[in-house]
Amino acid sequence: MDNTYLSTTLRPCLTALYFVLFLHHLSKTVEGGDSPSPYTPVDNITLNCGSSGNSTAIDGRTWIGDVNSNFFPPESSQNQASLTATAVKQSSYGTRIPYTTARLSDSAFTYIFPVTPGQKFVRLYFYPASYGNFVRSKAIFSVKTGPFTLLSNFIASVIADADGDPSDTILREFCVNIEEDERLNLTFTPSDSNSFAFVNGIEILSMPPNLYYTPSNDEGFPFIGQQNLYRIDNGTALEMEYRINVGGNPITPSEDTGMFRSWSPDSMYLTEDRFSPLPINTTIELHFTKIPAYTAPQDVYRSARTMGMNKTINKSYNLTWEFSVDSGFDYLVRLHFCEFQPEIIAMHDRVFLIFIANQTAETAANVMKLGR
Ligand SMILES: *[C@@H]1O[C@H](CO)[C@@H](O)[C@H](O)[C@H]1NC(C)=O
Ligand SMILES: *[C@@H]1O[C@H](CO)[C@@H](O)[C@H](O)[C@H]1NC(C)=O
Ligand SMILES: *[C@@H]1O[C@H](CO)[C@@H](O)[C@H](O)[C@H]1NC(C)=O
Ligand SMILES: *[C@@H]1O[C@H](CO)[C@@H](O)[C@H](O)[C@H]1NC(C)=O
Ligand SMILES: *[C@@H]1O[C@H](CO)[C@@H](O)[C@H](O)[C@H]1NC(C)=O
Ligand SMILES: *[C@@H]1O[C@H](CO)[C@@H](O)[C@H](O)[C@H]1NC(C)=O
Ligand SMILES: *[C@@H]1O[C@H](CO)[C@@H](O)[C@H](O)[C@H]1NC(C)=O
Ligand SMILES: *[C@@H]1O[C@H](CO)[C@@H](O)[C@H](O)[C@H]1NC(C)=O
Ligand SMILES: *[C@@H]1O[C@H](CO)[C@@H](O)[C@H](O)[C@H]1NC(C)=O
Repeated sequence: MDNTYLSTTLRPCLTALYFVLFLHHLSKTVEGGDSPSPYTPVDNITLNCGSSGNSTAIDGRTWIGDVNSNFFPPESSQNQASLTATAVKQSSYGTRIPYTTARLSDSAFTYIFPVTPGQKFVRLYFYPASYGNFVRSKAIFSVKTGPFTLLSNFIASVIADADGDPSDTILREFCVNIEEDERLNLTFTPSDSNSFAFVNGIEILSMPPNLYYTPSNDEGFPFIGQQNLYRIDNGTALEMEYRINVGGNPITPSEDTGMFRSWSPDSMYLTEDRFSPLPINTTIELHFTKIPAYTAPQDVYRSARTMGMNKTINKSYNLTWEFSVDSGFDYLVRLHFCEFQPEIIAMHDRVFLIFIANQTAETAANVMKLGR
């Protein structure tokens, strides 16, 4: 159990970290308000690819065009071969910034972001539509930054169609660390001579240090099923798979704590639909003392699901979420807790097991105790 907690005057809350290595299909649980932005990123770049000048998105954020911007050096001969285009609209989402325009090319092109050293969110926005002579199905490409391949043979149209998301748009979020005097380069490379690469929007945002990366003075956190602790060091890149607000509503990027993360509802990941959420308690006062207030929006802690207060029933089943993920990667699972059910008062009123991928992550989770 991680030693960083969120606590309230009455109701303790905390964040626990677990690491799992998955070789097959597995379940992963991640959980995740509103408050004045507790975090202000130093680097805050929103680039509208294929556009010039500034545009304002519906949430009020300003996106700067990449045409003639410092981030897309035109002197590079590779970059000169790329084109800008407006999508042949296929859904109403194609009218939203940054999805209206794209930069595309049948050869590689590179963005260069001079950023401060430190950990960054890198968000890539794609709207797989047809752009002039560039046919939707031919967009197959890779995206690299430094030593990391963020996307490999990424077939944007297939992914958009398979997502079940009616918006047809794709957002991929990564975290990378940038060392002193290093620049953040993003190179888009078509997979073969018949394909092309494109991108609609790029967002680069500083992360609070040690939000997901392990602080240098920290030994790490449990690796499920192994003896050794696990560390996420600066040489690691992360990709966001799921960010879930259990029992609550979607939380939009502008409602996040300043990091512009989005949080989705959990209902589609529950294995059974009988798991009813607790009523959202909007009056609980959260008081962040052990973890920074930017960790998650307050609404994340104000909604929950429980197993009910009938002992016979709550011992007879597991409250389970199922997330499909790719094999061959390590997965970081962050669980956010806030014990706000009025019946739970004493220290040992609720003690429970946590299984991740059918392995025991916690034999006696006790939010009241850990939050003290
Ligand atoms: C967990 O156990 C269930 C039931 O036995 C099984 O269907 C599922 O595949 C297992 N999941 C993993 C990740 O091993
Ligand atoms: C575009 O927005 C950026 C960032 O907000 C600002 O620095 C710049 O002056 C704006 N450019 C124009 C032409 O308005
Ligand atoms: C990020 O920059 C935009 C201008 O592009 C500004 O409106 C916004 O307030 C900044 N956000 C943060 C959290 O600093
Ligand atoms: C990782 O990089 C950050 C910022 O660049 C730095 O503050 C931190 O100390 C580094 N962590 C480790 C474990 O070296
Ligand atoms: C980024 O690209 C520039 C120009 O091509 C190059 O000089 C620099 O070494 C690259 N940086 C990284 C971290 O790849
Ligand atoms: C919400 O939380 C407050 C403070 O803990 C408590 O007094 C109140 O009874 C709770 N309301 C509900 C509906 O659970
Ligand atoms: C708990 O549930 C069981 C099975 O449905 C039922 O027989 C029992 O009466 C319930 N207990 C209480 C205290 O409601
Ligand atoms: C199950 O019900 C009992 C009796 O009401 C309660 O003490 C316990 O905290 C509940 N367990 C969970 C995991 O909610
Ligand atoms: C809950 O899940 C664990 C791990 O997969 C399993 O060992 C246990 O039998 C399950 N319990 C119930 C009541 O289904």
